[in-house]
Amino acid sequence: MAEIELKNVSLAFDQPRTKNRNIVYENFDIEIEKGSFTFLLGPSGCGKSTFLNIINGLLTPTTADTIAVDGKDIRQHPDLTRKMGYVFQGPRLLPWKTLKENAEFGLKGLGVQPKEKWPELIEKYFEMAGLTAFMNHYPSQVSGGMQQRAAIVRAWVNEPEILLMDEPFSHLDEITAAELRRELVSLWSREEERRTIVFVTHNIAEAAQMGSDVVVLTPTPSRICYRREIDIPWPRSSTDEGVFAIEKELRQVFADRAGVRV
Ligand SMILES: Nc1ncnc2c1ncn2[C@@H]1O[C@H](COP(=O)(O)OP(=O)(O)OP(=O)(O)O)[C@@H](O)[C@H]1O
Ligand SMILES: [Mg+2]
Repeated sequence: MAEIELKNVSLAFDQPRTKNRNIVYENFDIEIEKGSFTFLLGPSGCGKSTFLNIINGLLTPTTADTIAVDGKDIRQHPDLTRKMGYVFQGPRLLPWKTLKENAEFGLKGLGVQPKEKWPELIEKYFEMAGLTAFMNHYPSQVSGGMQQRAAIVRAWVNEPEILLMDEPFSHLDEITAAELRRELVSLWSREEERRTIVFVTHNIAEAAQMGSDVVVLTPTPSRICYRREIDIPWPRSSTDEGVFAIEKELRQVFADRAGVRV
């Protein structure tokens, strides 16, 4: 069953200075399966972050037949967005709050976790992100990569049914990114009822190593030009032949489609 469904979505931005219209989507359709770990790839500016913003109710398209989560339209049921955690492209932490207070702000904002559980959740996810020693620091007192990890914690502490992640590891050093990828896959794959993750990236290897589904978008007006499932059990190794073959296939997809680059 599709947990997220967009049908016939059109969205254009007017550019007042140039008087041009930037048509991001024109009759765009996409479905994301419940419990999938779906990777969304495509060239810069093709509408990946925009898709997450539409799903999370932060942006309303010009027209749309359906913007549904669990079969219900979010425009009639705005509460559905409480099922979601969102790791934005960039940390977006509140500078006057410590990292821990930022995570608490996330818990309070969504209001789905009982307050008694907060300390346990905070401890668990700060530990997972390797940030326990920095919980009481302010964003300005930690590095950019640490701020990004704190933003990941802020979404994870809610243990949301749907996790939207926009290039969450792209500004991290490779060792930390690899560690967090392992943690995320292990967290997701161990669950009896897997949550749905939509993960935007420019990193083909990351998609081949982690995803259950990969979707590639074209430049605007955006449409899906490629989609596949990846049926290899987790944890996967980057040296696994199957993973390597998918990585190669994805590179070929990008090479074959002019204007699509990663
Ligand atoms: N609020 C806005 N006002 C005007 N144009 C916008 C707005 N939000 C997005 N756009 C435009 O919509 C298009 C899609 O943007 P989006 O941020 O979704 O791209 P993206 O695929 O996430 O790119 P990247 O890989 O660089 O993050 C871009 O051309 C962008 O300039
Ligand atoms: Mg983006």
